[in-house]
Amino acid sequence: MRLEGKVAVITGAASGIGRATAERFVEEGASVIVGDIQRELGEELSKQMGGSATFKFCDVTEEKDVKELMESAVSTYGSLDIVMNNAGIVGSRGPISSTDASEFKATLDILLYGTFLGIKHAAPHMERQKSGSIINIASTAGVTGGLGPHVYAAAKHGVVGLTKNVAAELCRSGIRVNCIAPGSTVTPLVAAAYMDDHEALEEVSEIVRAKSPILNRPGIPIDVANAALYLASDESGNTNGHCLVVDGGLTTGSTPNDPPHSDSMPFLREAGQHGL
Ligand SMILES: NC(=O)c1ccc[n+]([C@@H]2O[C@H](COP(=O)([O-])OP(=O)(O)OC[C@H]3O[C@@H](n4cnc5c(N)ncnc54)[C@H](O)[C@@H]3O)[C@@H](O)[C@H]2O)c1
Repeated sequence: MRLEGKVAVITGAASGIGRATAERFVEEGASVIVGDIQRELGEELSKQMGGSATFKFCDVTEEKDVKELMESAVSTYGSLDIVMNNAGIVGSRGPISSTDASEFKATLDILLYGTFLGIKHAAPHMERQKSGSIINIASTAGVTGGLGPHVYAAAKHGVVGLTKNVAAELCRSGIRVNCIAPGSTVTPLVAAAYMDDHEALEEVSEIVRAKSPILNRPGIPIDVANAALYLASDESGNTNGHCLVVDGGLTTGSTPNDPPHSDSMPFLREAGQHGL
């Protein structure tokens, strides 16, 4: 029960990574406000988790919704200890020269402005309590180039930068701010990105597995939920402004077809450092 007595708000919690995290947090003793624009899925999830979860409609691009979402944690469960700014879409795709300007702005609104609003309206509650953990969901596309559409990469780099700046600002109030950068993870979002069909989870699982540097293992939502559990819990009490990459090693430059290090790095072979 690593989150016993804690109250969490998770945006985009009706599906994918947010949903897995809501379930994991409840298993560990937290109460969770499930914020999302998908009312039916969100209500079904909170019903499934009994009194430990409550659905609240929230469009993260609407400041009033986000403010009320944070307030609802305090009015329903008595405090606000953890906020995970997770809601997202893939958004505008394609070559930069044909990227539609209004779609670019609309994508930034959800991924970056929505994260800003989540932090802005969580902070006053946590400052009053003198404690709190804010977790922003970035992406590997936010730590290196070439791994996502232009606006997605721009927004996620923005999320990493915002995380570090706010971490430096809020730490004096006992609030930690970290982010997670998942690699490809089997969810409706990634099925929509790869297959243009958010329900094609089985097919996309095979693609994600084949692209992963780790043998025969696709990234799955519980991987990110477990990382979030660490950042949400008191175990990470001295971890602040960190970007936790959960990508099977993709951003190290590893690919599934790389030869073992001992073959690709002669100096290791000479030193007899096989298997590093
Ligand atoms: N799946 C991946 O491979 C992957 C990789 C890196 C980062 N991420 C990030 O993880 C987060 C969760 O994505 P996922 O893969 O679980 O996708 P998902 O589609 O399964 O879940 C996203 C949720 O966000 C909600 N949402 C969308 N717009 C919203 C809005 N305006 N207000 C409130 N809720 C909104 C959706 O309704 C949905 O429930 C996103 O920020 C995404 O960018 C995903």
